[in-house]
Order: sequence, then C-alpha cells, then structure tokens
Amino acid sequence: MVVHDIIVIGGGLAGMRAAVEAARSGQNVAIVSKVHPVRSHSVAAQGGINAALKQDDPWEDHSFDTVKGSDYLGDQDAIEILTKEAPSDILELEKMGAVFSRDETGAIAQRPFGGAGYPRACYLADRTGHSLLHVLFEQTIKHGVFIYNEWFVLEIVKEGSVVSGIIALDMQTGKLHRLRAKAVIVATGGYGRVFGSTTNALSSTGDGMGLALSAGAPLMDMEFVQYHPTTLKRTGLLITEGSRGEGGYLINSKGERFMEKYAPSVLELASRDVVSRAEQTELNNGLGIDGCIHLDLRHLGREKIMERLPQIREISIKFAGVDPILAPIPVRPGAHYSMGGVMTDVDGATPVTGLFSAGESACVSVHGANRLGGNSLLETIVFGRRTGTAASKFSASTDLPNFDSTSLARSSEIVGELLNRKDGEKPSKILKDINDVMDSNCSVYREENSLKDGLQKITEIKKRVDRVSLTDKGDVFNTELTSVFELGHILTLAEIILLGAINRKESRGSHSRTDFKERDDKNWLKHTLIKKKNNELTIDYKDVTITNFEPKERSY
Ligand code: FUM
Repeated sequence: MVVHDIIVIGGGLAGMRAAVEAARSGQNVAIVSKVHPVRSHSVAAQGGINAALKQDDPWEDHSFDTVKGSDYLGDQDAIEILTKEAPSDILELEKMGAVFSRDETGAIAQRPFGGAGYPRACYLADRTGHSLLHVLFEQTIKHGVFIYNEWFVLEIVKEGSVVSGIIALDMQTGKLHRLRAKAVIVATGGYGRVFGSTTNALSSTGDGMGLALSAGAPLMDMEFVQYHPTTLKRTGLLITEGSRGEGGYLINSKGERFMEKYAPSVLELASRDVVSRAEQTELNNGLGIDGCIHLDLRHLGREKIMERLPQIREISIKFAGVDPILAPIPVRPGAHYSMGGVMTDVDGATPVTGLFSAGESACVSVHGANRLGGNSLLETIVFGRRTGTAASKFSASTDLPNFDSTSLARSSEIVGELLNRKDGEKPSKILKDINDVMDSNCSVYREENSLKDGLQKITEIKKRVDRVSLTDKGDVFNTELTSVFELGHILTLAEIILLGAINRKESRGSHSRTDFKERDDKNWLKHTLIKKKNNELTIDYKDVTITNFEPKERSY
C-alpha cells in the first residue's frame, strides 16, 4: 500500500500552495487530482489578486473593505490574517517566478475591483489565475511533490476518529487504490456545477466538501452563493470584473447606466452581490436586452482592450460573436463562487483530527456573505501556505494511523454494482434536473415558498440516483462512472444550500430574500453549520468573530 505523510486532494492554487509549503518542511507530500493540476479551475481566474502593496493603502483598509464586502459575516481575525499577510505572499509569488503586469514606474500594476476602496488587484492582463497556476505547478516539481494525475477520490478513510488516508480510482486504468497518510488536505475548489448557469468548470462539483462532510467535518455558510454580475450570454463564461475595473459600463435596454440608481458613489464597482441584484432587478423590470445586460467597453479603446483584456475580447468574439472594441458584450449574473465550505480554523484545520482544508472548498471564514473580487486567489495563497505549514506540524508530531482494511472492498463493491447495473436513468439527465431546480428556485433573489419547493424537488431527485445506470461499462477513463459520485456530492450540496437558505430569515450579502428584505444582526449575525450524522443532516449556528469593525449599514 502506498504511504505519504500528507495527501492533498485537488491540484489547484490552494492545493499546490499547501503541498509546496508542506514539502518545503520536509514532509512526503502527494497531490491527488481528478484533472491535471494546470487544468484546475483556478486557471480560469482572470482579473486579479488583492494585496495592499502601496504606502497609502494600509492593510487595515483592505481588511475593512473585506469585512464590509462580507456584509459583516466574515470572521475578522481571519480577515486580518488574509490582508496583513497578502503583501509578502505576493512578493513571494514573484520570487517563485510569477509574472504580473507593471505600471509606468515598473512596479506591480494594480487595478480597481468591486467593493475595494483602493486599486489593489494585482494582475497579469486577464490571465492572472493561469499565470499563478503554472508557477505553482513548477514549484511542486521543484519540491518533489508526487502527483497522482487524473485520480478520483472516492472516500476519506478514518481509523476511529482520525483520518488515515483515502480510497482513489486511477481513471486511466479503472483500478482502485488505498493511499495512507497522516494528514489529508481537501483543496478541491467550489461547487458551481450545482447550478446550470455558472462560470465554473465541469470539474467544479464540490467533491471535497462532500467527502469532508461524510468524514464528519461540518460545512459552514453554504447558503451564500456568489452570483458574478458579468457572465457571458448562453455560455456563462466569466467576463472579468477587471472589465469594469478598467472602466466598463453596464447598460440597460434604454441605454441607461443603471448602476447610478443602485450604487451612486461607485457605480459598476460596487460589490458583486449589489451589482448582480441591480442587474436582476433591471431584467425583472423588463429592461434587459434579450435576457441580458450590456457591458460596454468601447470607450476604453482598442489599445487598452488589447493590452489589459485580450482574453475577454477573444472569449466574446468566439462565444458570443461580439468584438467588444466595436459592440457591447451581452452578460448576466451567474453562479460563480461558494463563500461557504468545510469549516476550518485560521490554519486550515477542521474539527476532524488529521483533516484540513484550504481555498474555495474551505470556509475560514474570510468572505462571509459576499466575497470581494480578487480575494479568492489571495485566500488560496495565504491559507494554502498556512494550511501546508499546519498539516506539516501535525504530521511531524503524529504516527501513521492504521488503515481500515474494509474500505477498499466497500468502494469496490459500489463501483462493481454501478458498472453491472442493467437498466436505469442516465446521470446526465439527473444533473440537468438538479441544475434547473437550483437555477430557478435558488438564485440572485430567494423566497421561502420557492426555496421549499426546490428542496422538495431535490429530495425527489435524490431517490433517482440509486437507480442510475451507465452506458459506459469500461475501465479506462470512465467519466460517466465518476460523474455518478460527483452527482452524489452535487445533490448533497444542493440540499444543504437550500436548507441553509430556507432557515436564514434575513437578507445578507449574496443571500437576498424577497420575504425578509433586511439584514437582521440581532438574530442572524451567525454562521450556519451543517453536519451529517447517520446519513441525516443537522443544522447548528456559531458566532461571528468581530474584532475592529462593528456591523454598520452597508452602502456603496
Ligand atoms: O471577475 C474576475 O476576474 C473574477 C475574479 C474573482 O472571482 O476573484
């Protein structure tokens, strides 16, 4: 049986940053990833990574913007860490070889982003995630991190209450393997594919959150789903906030710059929840253009668009037939980011001994009810590094636990049964039905009856998963087989999102209830915790950590 000190599930930015830090501390580290690391969804991050780099931009201001952006649900001790450690982490990325766009003085260029009181998003044109992902991949090679490439994790195994490794499927051969470890770090990103309309890659199915939940870790604040204001018509592809940071306008069917009504002082650069709600309101009022809002970049001119937003231009031409130099881009809000995730402390530790999480799969919580653009890449780097350090310390101080010998047989039986089943529904059909429910019942605006209706529909759909059958019965790259496990996670997460949303009877950040329009600090300034016990979900709450910023009314 293969043994490592630390196994990282997921090869995106958070996973690779954690792995590199742990390997630097002398641990034997492996990454297990269902896609090649440079194909992880972090590659799609476009607009920037925040850090208070300038003398007239103290990190405390970045903290305040983040707390305000979170609608006061973010834990302020964690936000202090995020923002205070950001500048040195950016410089370290540079030392590793990361390339950033420069300003006229030769310093790292920084652009304005939504909800930020200072232009502090460092970027490489509109390919920031791409640039960082490749640099970190090089670092994993340099530090000898072993990569199980295109391996799909089926279970986090425990010995008693302690994590002891994983069961994973080698997708190239169809063989199941036991991998032992002293610590497991979940860094699998988000669950955008719970929704049909999303910026997320097909691989963003929330596997790590589902696995961690089954291993006994609570999921926190899962009702907070970020809808990005500018996703491309029909495809849902991300059109970076950097487009507005560079000066793009949002226009309705009357040609009005409607953000003047909703965020008079910062217009298009209000936080994402505010802009998405504004767009949705315009659409609901019949002021859309073929179901979309127009993002107008024409006044920026060819040169700026080509220099700062070349990928946006390419995506718009290829996928919407629109050249933004000549015409506005049709956009609408789409599911983009999960503020919630596996509950961790500020070092990535979960309440389950030996289990850690970092990045979008985790909830530290630095984003609270609404994340600021540019803070997700930052979270992957700051908390990826911290989690790598903490997991190393844990691993160095503990013995390798025993490994439950029945776990492999259990997974093997499930896989065998799925491959042998003759009749049943196709998993892709079930996924489509889940996506439709979530898109229509749990979106930018929410309301009790429709959320409850959504939950009932998801409960019905759940019963169908036990009856799926596969067209592909083969061993080699059977992605239909792995899609059934993804579907299981998607269903669980859909149920949890709806449960949290039904219970939270207020509007805060991205969770906007038409039947409870106000934020209610008296009753709801608290985190939602969902646990799984004997296959049942339980709901609980936890206080928010407030240090310097008392909750205030939030306006932009
Ligand atoms: O709009 C964007 O470029 C996305 C950035 C982010 O989600 O942080």
